[in-house]
Amino acid sequence: MQFLQDLENLLQSGVAEFQEAHEAEAIESLRIAYLGRKGKLAECMQVLPSLSSEEKRAAGPKANEAKMALEGAWEAAVARLQVKAASEAGEKERIDITLPPAEGRAGNLHLSTQAIEEICDIFSKLGFARARHPEVDWDYYAFESLNMPKEHPARDEWETFFVDDGKGKIFTGAQGKVVLTPHTSNGQVREMKKGVLPIRMISMGKCYRRQVSARHLPMFHQFEGLMIDEKVTVTELRGVFDFFVKRFFGPETKTRLRPFHFRFTEPSFELDISCIVCKGSGKTKAGVKCKLCKAGWLELGGAGMVHPNVLKAGGLDPKKYNGFAFGWGLERTLMMKGGINLDDIRVLYKNDLRFLKQF
Ligand code: FA5
Repeated sequence: MQFLQDLENLLQSGVAEFQEAHEAEAIESLRIAYLGRKGKLAECMQVLPSLSSEEKRAAGPKANEAKMALEGAWEAAVARLQVKAASEAGEKERIDITLPPAEGRAGNLHLSTQAIEEICDIFSKLGFARARHPEVDWDYYAFESLNMPKEHPARDEWETFFVDDGKGKIFTGAQGKVVLTPHTSNGQVREMKKGVLPIRMISMGKCYRRQVSARHLPMFHQFEGLMIDEKVTVTELRGVFDFFVKRFFGPETKTRLRPFHFRFTEPSFELDISCIVCKGSGKTKAGVKCKLCKAGWLELGGAGMVHPNVLKAGGLDPKKYNGFAFGWGLERTLMMKGGINLDDIRVLYKNDLRFLKQF
């Protein structure tokens, strides 16, 4: 029967062509040509209704066989293509396990964080324990408790950020206004109120002031020291200052106390160290005036003997207890350290990895 012969020819040629096809496009064209709705198999089957019943009985299984053989050949061609693609990708992505490992990308702590750890470590050797106090605080702790009554002009020196009430007015609550702490001295009375004596505290915290320049940051860190006991003297303040400076800046560094005025300490001082760059001479080797210091000295920060009114605010009897306090700027301290002479303090917080990775 011609129909059976046609089917056999179709099967043979189709299977052979699928076996020869190796590209996705060629395989798809063959599928359409042989198995598509208007393809060769469908065309061949159009004869089927015109066959006699006896012929149909023989033609049915043969038509099925041809269809299955062509579909099988098509699926085999697609599978071949997938295996080829997978092996090509594998070749490209092959890992060479004999290569030495890529260098690990080790991170490092921010310069300020490193300094915080180093400073706290130095003070811990003298028995100063690290404390933390609020960075958003009542102005009572930032000013009033520190012998600066409301409206006192000394408050202006701290160029304070006030927290508003969301309606454009300064938030005012049970204990006064709320400030972003302009100095870590807000922790002095809080520490005294804990009632644990003697006190040897080193408090490291963020401070905020309305100041921006090469030497001023709107957010910076201070470290506040507080020592309260019976019969503490300026000599001990000097001793602690010297101990810290020689460990942090180097044993050759000299120190000096300069009379100053703070409302919360009496007497008060500014503490200076000899310049790291010109070694205290005020001049470079070439005889030019040193760019970093004032006549050989750099100011580290303020200090003094705690004012009796502050002790009272902390619930302590000034006749029995006394002590000293100091507050130094972390970033300025870093600026002074040898090898990290910064022209502009703001570089510390610009997140420029080229700068930060050096330390
Ligand atoms: C005070 O803040 C006092 N509370 C310090 C103190 C504590 C005195 C305890 C006595 C007893 P002063 O405003 O000078 O003092 O700031 C201290 C240090 O903070 C400065 O010497 C400086 O190192 C640093 N500092 C102040 N303002 C800024 C700023 N905007 N950016 C960076 N560092 C600053």
